[in-house]
Amino acid sequence: MVNKATKPTDALIGHDAWNIQLDKNGNLKHFLTTEGLGSDMLTKILDTAESFANVNQKSVKKVPLLRGKTIVNLFFEASTRTRTTFELAAKRLSADVLNINISTSATSKGETLLDTLQNIQAMHCDMFVVRHSDSGAAHYIANNVAPNISVINAGDGSHAHPTQAMLDMFTIRRNKGENFGNLRVAIVGDILHSRVARSQIHALNTLNTGDVRVIAPRTLLPVDIEDMGVNVFHDLETGIQDADVVIMLRLQKERMTGALLPSEQEYFQLYGLTEERLLVAKDDAIVMHPGPINRGVEIDSNVADGPRSVILDQVSYGIAVRMAVMTMTLGREPEKNESDEKTGAGQ
Ligand code: CP
Repeated sequence: MVNKATKPTDALIGHDAWNIQLDKNGNLKHFLTTEGLGSDMLTKILDTAESFANVNQKSVKKVPLLRGKTIVNLFFEASTRTRTTFELAAKRLSADVLNINISTSATSKGETLLDTLQNIQAMHCDMFVVRHSDSGAAHYIANNVAPNISVINAGDGSHAHPTQAMLDMFTIRRNKGENFGNLRVAIVGDILHSRVARSQIHALNTLNTGDVRVIAPRTLLPVDIEDMGVNVFHDLETGIQDADVVIMLRLQKERMTGALLPSEQEYFQLYGLTEERLLVAKDDAIVMHPGPINRGVEIDSNVADGPRSVILDQVSYGIAVRMAVMTMTLGREPEKNESDEKTGAGQ
C-alpha cells in the first residue's frame, strides 16, 4: 500500500498534473514540483538565479523586469523564510506584491478556495504564490486559474516544495561546483513528511547526482522510498560516511499521526548531527537545513552555527532562485548581464 504522505491527493490534482508546468513551447508556466522537469530546465533555473545573485549584493537591489506585474502571496500555512524571500524577490523585480492574510480573509468566513481565487483574479493579478497544508493544493489552483496567471508552489502538504529544492541545488552548486555526478548527498531525518526531501530527491536525481542517500528510522520513511532512486540507511554514521553534503530535516510533528518516535531526546541520540558524528563525512562537507531548525533535536548548535554550516546562505540564495522562477514563469527572463546593467554594475 502506498503511504498517503508520499503522493499528492489525487482528487486535488488533475490528470495532467505533471504536464501543466510547461506551456506549449516548453517554457515554464507554473512551478509546482521538481518532478518531471528535465535537467535543462533545472539548470536554466540555477543559471538564471546566478545572474540575479549579484543584484542582492548591490546598494540598489532592484531590476525592472516585472514592473507592472502583480504577484499575490497566498499562504494558508505558517512561513518565515519562504514568504519573506518571495516578497523580497518580487519587490527586487519591481513587481507589485499583495500579501493575503488568510486568518483575516473571507476564507475564514466560509468562502471556498475557488471563490477566493476568482475574487483575487478579478483584481488582474499575474501570479499566485501558494502555500497550503493539503498535498495537491497548488496543482488544483493551477488547474483552475485564468490562463494568463502563473502559479508557484511554496509548499503543499507533504508533497512538494520546489523553490526550496532549487535554492538547495543552488547552494550545493555554489559550494561543490557544477558536476553533481561526483557528489554524495545525504538527507537525514523525517523523510516521510518532508515535501522538501521529496523535491530535493527529484532534483538531485535529475541533475545526475552520484549518490543520493536518505537516513532515517523506518517509521519516518515512505514505504516506496527506494523507487525514488535513493540509497536507504537507518544508521546515521554509516549513512553520512564520506558525504559531500549533509542535509538535516526537522521532525514535522504537525504532520505526524500516532507514535512514530519514542522521544526527541532518543531521536537526537540516534539521529542528531553533532560535531563528533560529522567527522565521518568528508573534511569539506557542507551542512544544510531548510529551516526552521530545532536545536538539540535534529542538529546540535555547534554544527548549526559552525564552519561547515551553510544554512543562512541557503536563505540568502532563496531570493535569487525565487527571482529566477518568477521571471521565467512570467516570460521575462534577463538578458545576459542585464541585472548588472540595470543596477549600474561597477558603481
Ligand atoms: N524552509 C521553509 O519552507 O521555511 P518556512 O516554513 O519558514 O517558509
